[in-house]
Amino acid sequence: MSGGKRPDMEPEGLHPDTLAVGFGYDPQDAYGAVKPPIVLSSTFAYPSAQAAKDVHQAYFDGPSPERDAPYIYARLDHPGLSLLQKRLAVLDGAEDAAAFASGMAAISATMLAHLKPGDSVLHTTPLYGGTHGLLHGPLAGLGIRPVPIADGLSRDSVAAAAETALAHGPVGVIHVESPANPTAGIADIAMIAAFAGELAERQGRRPVVSVDNTFLGSLLQKPLEHGADLCITSLTKYAGGHSDLLGGSLTGSLERVGPVRMLRTLLGTHMDPFTSWLLLRSLETFPLRNGRANANAGAIAAFLRDHPKVAGVTYLGFLEEGSPAKAVYDRQCAGAGSTFSFKIRGGEAEAFAMLDRLKVFRMAVSLGGTESLICHSATTTHYLVPLEVRREVGVDDSTLRISVGIEHPDDLIADLAQALDAVGTGGNFQTSRGS
Ligand SMILES: Cc1ncc(COP(=O)(O)O)c(C=O)c1O
Repeated sequence: MSGGKRPDMEPEGLHPDTLAVGFGYDPQDAYGAVKPPIVLSSTFAYPSAQAAKDVHQAYFDGPSPERDAPYIYARLDHPGLSLLQKRLAVLDGAEDAAAFASGMAAISATMLAHLKPGDSVLHTTPLYGGTHGLLHGPLAGLGIRPVPIADGLSRDSVAAAAETALAHGPVGVIHVESPANPTAGIADIAMIAAFAGELAERQGRRPVVSVDNTFLGSLLQKPLEHGADLCITSLTKYAGGHSDLLGGSLTGSLERVGPVRMLRTLLGTHMDPFTSWLLLRSLETFPLRNGRANANAGAIAAFLRDHPKVAGVTYLGFLEEGSPAKAVYDRQCAGAGSTFSFKIRGGEAEAFAMLDRLKVFRMAVSLGGTESLICHSATTTHYLVPLEVRREVGVDDSTLRISVGIEHPDDLIADLAQALDAVGTGGNFQTSRGS
């Protein structure tokens, strides 16, 4: 065997399962360590004064400014961050990626980098509560007008929202959340991307189409393949997968991601070395965890759909054959995921009664962890969303959202069954919150 360097792993033809384990890392770059080390240094030494000048020049003026420059200071970039970004990009099929301290850090930096006062933003509805709060609070305060799209499957609906928006100012961003939280409403990414092209001709500037892919994640939906400019994901959920970290990802072209990463440096919302390492570790089991959780979710959704105390389930696997949503789902998504909501017969009292009876499911917001979670949407994740908006999108007092984990499906179903059995029987338990 020659003493030369072994070739790097090439992504072409490799499956996500393989890329998630090894892509972008060469043990020879770190003492032969099979796993990437955590580099905790906040600053990086220059070998010479000229090198210091060259490094800064590469960061600020290079051919791919900041992305391919050597390390300077950990807020700009660090080894764990650049390795993670390579893996996030390859999993999303993107040219470039930037990782952030949270999903909201990625969303807010994207909006701030691609919008200016006087612009408007079109967005699907409902939005995750934090995104809704950002657009309708601080960004509206900067003179940026958010305009909801009533139906993300209908070109007429997108065009009507655009007319309202254009009366205020040019559309800078079209923000799509699909599937939506917690209604699982679908938007047609390809149709919206094509519409952005039409708007470009009309207003002389293409709106940036950003898709929040948090609900399905990169293994089940690839928005960039359907024409989106940017894909935003809360890594806190499926990618992190253990409910023990916060992170966010932005993927897309160098041209669209670059300005957001530069802004990240100024805002100081990069991902730190330890979290980057945790995520690299989590990504290795992402396909395995996803497969198990998705199978569990299918079984639980079927159990709930057939239960007499359940009024409806928003599981994507149950979309009606022949419906517009099903047609787009089949084209756009590779699976139904493991987070969905259901409506219990009754209202808040019945929902709370069931929640307080569960033993295996944890009652908490968030999703995508190894453990199964459940929460009452109206009083938790959607607390900030105004009542009339919640009504429009079908989040009412009976709505419960569940994120299915990787436990044994029989145990999860038995837990739900015993909790549902107790609802409305006049049993001897009380809701811990009163009312
Ligand atoms: C759809 C969606 N987008 C974005 C976020 C924000 O992510 P993070 O909590 O990592 O900031 C969440 C969090 O729940 C979410 O559900």
